[in-house]
Amino acid sequence: MSIFINEQEKTFHLTNDKISYIFRVMENKQLEHIYYGSKIAFSDSVSRLVERSFRPVSVVEFDNDLITCLDSIKQEFPSSGGGDFREAAIDVTFENGSHILELEYNSYKTAKGKTKLPGMPATFANQDECETLTIFMKDELSGLEVELNYTIFNTLPVITRLVRLHNNGDENITIERLLSASVDIPDQKYDVIHLSGLWGRERHFYRSPAEPGVKAVYSTRGASSHHHNPFIALAHPEATENHGNVYSMNLVYSGNFLAQVDVDNYYVNRLMIGIHPNRFQWKLKPHGEFYSPEAVLVFSDKGLNGMSHAYHDLYNNHLINPKWAHKARPVVMNNWEGTYLDFTEDKIISIAETASELGVELFVLDDGWFGKRDLDNSSLGDWYVNKEKLPNGIDGLAKKINDLGMEFGLWFEPEMSNSDSHIMKEHPEWIIGTPGRFRKPARFQYVLDYGNPEVVEHIFEMMDDILSNANISYVKWDMNRNISEAYSAYLDSESQGELMHRYILGVYTLYDKLLERHPNLLIESCASGGGRFDPGMLYYAPQIWTSDDSDAIERLKIQYGTSMVYPVSSIGAHVSAVPNHQVGRITPLDTRANVAFFGVFGYELDPNKLTEEEMQEIKEQIKYYKRNRELLLFGEFTRLASPFEENETMWMVKTKDKEQAIVAWFQVLSIPNDGYRRVRVPGLDPSALYKIEENGLQYTGSELENIGIVLTAPIRGELGFDDTAIMNKRDFDSKIFTLRKVK
Ligand code: DGJ
Repeated sequence: MSIFINEQEKTFHLTNDKISYIFRVMENKQLEHIYYGSKIAFSDSVSRLVERSFRPVSVVEFDNDLITCLDSIKQEFPSSGGGDFREAAIDVTFENGSHILELEYNSYKTAKGKTKLPGMPATFANQDECETLTIFMKDELSGLEVELNYTIFNTLPVITRLVRLHNNGDENITIERLLSASVDIPDQKYDVIHLSGLWGRERHFYRSPAEPGVKAVYSTRGASSHHHNPFIALAHPEATENHGNVYSMNLVYSGNFLAQVDVDNYYVNRLMIGIHPNRFQWKLKPHGEFYSPEAVLVFSDKGLNGMSHAYHDLYNNHLINPKWAHKARPVVMNNWEGTYLDFTEDKIISIAETASELGVELFVLDDGWFGKRDLDNSSLGDWYVNKEKLPNGIDGLAKKINDLGMEFGLWFEPEMSNSDSHIMKEHPEWIIGTPGRFRKPARFQYVLDYGNPEVVEHIFEMMDDILSNANISYVKWDMNRNISEAYSAYLDSESQGELMHRYILGVYTLYDKLLERHPNLLIESCASGGGRFDPGMLYYAPQIWTSDDSDAIERLKIQYGTSMVYPVSSIGAHVSAVPNHQVGRITPLDTRANVAFFGVFGYELDPNKLTEEEMQEIKEQIKYYKRNRELLLFGEFTRLASPFEENETMWMVKTKDKEQAIVAWFQVLSIPNDGYRRVRVPGLDPSALYKIEENGLQYTGSELENIGIVLTAPIRGELGFDDTAIMNKRDFDSKIFTLRKVK
């Protein structure tokens, strides 16, 4: 049992062998947060843990009790304007213009397992894997009912939270703000961590001291965005990759979000996450209900790696489609950087022939196969084949690719249109844009109104037609612009504040419909690279194109940051040509592959431009990946040295039974007359002996942990080395060490 309840005191304690989370009903029937962190032994009463103090100049709950000021009581689900002046989790407006909520505890329910969240992606688990507590609260005057749902996973330091609102009154209630989770973490100065960036450098790692005031990351762009990820963490200032306390939240949602910490002047840190309230307004009619997206809360007392292990485990086992979650993914050749839009069937076939010779398993035809798409200013939304480029149609091309022994995948950008398209000419009302205002283009394109079910149905039918008439096993679902001038011709004037949320619900509906009709489809999500890399997408698309920046050195930071939350099995990573198309850098072919191995691996180049020597090297790379992909994709991934701090980056994967590991070392610049270099490998069996496949050397687990693999070793002759080092003297050098336990 993982939920303990003291009926008398009305105290709730969610716990497993890693974490505890405690709250209670206080005198005014609101919920008070008591504790969140490392597991503490269950004790029946928590009244002695309640903290109160007289706070001058504060609003109090009871006339005769000066210590009951909500502004300094840790709240479980704070509302706005009633004496707690910090950031709220919920805010509504009633028909008389008032907004005060008095949410009082009513009852609770516990159940094994967790129920499906209607219309939205969420984690899932069996009855014996988690337990759910639902707290029922009510605002008596208005009839608004609030359900707080908490699911604790039995073996992970994870609690998921979501909120359901139900209007049990007879007036409309406008939801102005509804966050999925809020936790007040007291008495300690923390560092705030987030993943932020831009196109081409997504999810870089940021850490800074949290100070009084609000630190927020967010998106108001209609997608979770390149700019910030729906993730935030508070780390003890001394917490490192492997030690110390970290509290974190991640939102299973792909649209506008807000993730923030509001540090009050007593150093209570209110950590919160949910749909961004900006331009969000949802009319809850009598008997109407509204669900928030799900928030995932991970607490780690083992630093950032401990946090990441929990997210990776959770997402690989309880979020990603089980059909793919543990399945080796095919090695891909994508033609985008090889041809861009300029291709014919012959050109594609000749690339595919070489790809097949190299050992590639799946060929993906990217943008440019439909309508009159010769430039990127035309045809989005016209999902029928361009017969000038592909005279045998998609079906004919897919057959030829299949005949070469590869599966076939196809690119779509289902949410978009160009002005030069049939869809936009025939249905101008299907495009998002404000009447009388200039509708701004981005990459010559406009966003379809997925808040309108007719639009979703229309696109579904077009895509279904293509997918049903050719042997397509993979779809790359792209999305290349954000939403501006948000306004829907489908919604009435009072419902315009619903558009951004309805839009993303429409995207989820299309994913659901496509997967229901084509359950074996493997979908790669993409948004100009990593502009929508979030758990919501991961629920439908087991892998996500991490960034349009395919340069190996840039990827060190991008993949390192992404790995904070997302498993290797979700990180699309391809080897591309040099000079790199995004940054012009020339990196060695082995380093390009060594970085991409720690992801869903593939190539994104014209293989017909490779030299014979490069072809041989790539054949070996593909063989290596195929031999080791289960370990690379699903092994426990641990970061060892950060590209944000060092010239060197190191990371590793290992099997849980410690039988095998792959360790990677990368350097940016070569340093003349540098110090000795080693790669320390933690967490293997200390007394066992491990052999390195690449050089035959053997180390014990304790040597690996404490001394490390020596990179500057005086190895000569007998092992085939004629240099004094395993490292090469070159910029952008890298090494992979494949370790297997020999005894
Ligand atoms: C952006 C994607 O990130 C690229 O990989 C490619 O698919 C292009 N769009 C195609 O337009």
